[in-house]
Amino acid sequence: MNKHVSVMPEKAIEMLNIKEDGIYVDGTLGRGGHSKKILEKLKTGKLYCFDLDEEAIEESRNYLKDYDNVVFIHDNFRNIADYVEHADGILLDLGVSSPQFDEGNRGFSYRYDGPLDMRMDQNSTLSAYDVVNGYPQEKLEKILREYGEERFARKIAGEIVKNRPISTTLELVDVIKQALPTKVLNKKGHPAKQSFQAIRIEVNQELDSLKAFLEETDRILNEKGRLVIITFHSLEDRIVKQYFKKLTTVDDDKRIALRPEDVRVPDYRLPNHGEKASEEEISVNRRSKSAIIRGVEKDYGKNR
Ligand SMILES: C[S@@+](CC[C@H](N)C(=O)[O-])C[C@H]1O[C@@H](n2cnc3c(N)ncnc32)[C@H](O)[C@@H]1O
Repeated sequence: MNKHVSVMPEKAIEMLNIKEDGIYVDGTLGRGGHSKKILEKLKTGKLYCFDLDEEAIEESRNYLKDYDNVVFIHDNFRNIADYVEHADGILLDLGVSSPQFDEGNRGFSYRYDGPLDMRMDQNSTLSAYDVVNGYPQEKLEKILREYGEERFARKIAGEIVKNRPISTTLELVDVIKQALPTKVLNKKGHPAKQSFQAIRIEVNQELDSLKAFLEETDRILNEKGRLVIITFHSLEDRIVKQYFKKLTTVDDDKRIALRPEDVRVPDYRLPNHGEKASEEEISVNRRSKSAIIRGVEKDYGKNR
């Protein structure tokens, strides 16, 4: 059974505009849900899949065992250029998978007790324990504020430092709760959600990976190639949105400086402006609630 329900699978496949002989990349294999949909569309084409998590690679290897045109790569998608020279489509479905979140021992969840881990890559050296117990208070506060958009970052960082050492996820939840006013604790949504998101982003250097990856994609995408990204929170979405804007707009300096016939239209076009999951999908898959899917197509033809 596939333990992770893919978000916006049909939309993602439609936006990738798959050619049966094309080269595709799934940068976030997870449990192989999107990958399988891509493979179903390929005939002579090939799919490269990346995941930082060895468990994801092993489970998907089994799930996709009927296909011989798929390559599994246990590495960060930011290193895409080390493995793939050219591609007709690249997909990212960011964040953590349901099995990562639901298995207490991975330490991602504020609902189940487990060690303070949160590493997507079990070989990586920095864990949530190191961040929570080792970072100076100011650095913790900055992470909670920037990566968790947490209003009470200062109070939470102070409470964490006061209660060190903190060893488990539920101990951390208690400490976070101690720092929050009752009115916040009584609000809908889990009070530790933002802080856990922040620590997870720091442990896995998620935003740096995304930025580094985006810078690589232009060299890899073939003409008419598509880059499609599903994000789950505003920090990720902002990075993707701004990058896609850069790819698809001519900056005003060039517009003024050049003769009209010299103004190059952008090499990319936007097939859409960011879409959300349908109400129907959200009702059966809560993970899709915060998801936004965006895509760009490389289009050199417009400048010829
Ligand atoms: C939301 S899940 C993907 C689910 C998948 N699309 C499916 O349908 O089963 C995200 C996956 O990406 C992996 N991941 C996150 N950041 C990564 C990175 N920088 N490099 C490689 N894998 C990453 C996580 O380990 C996780 O397995």
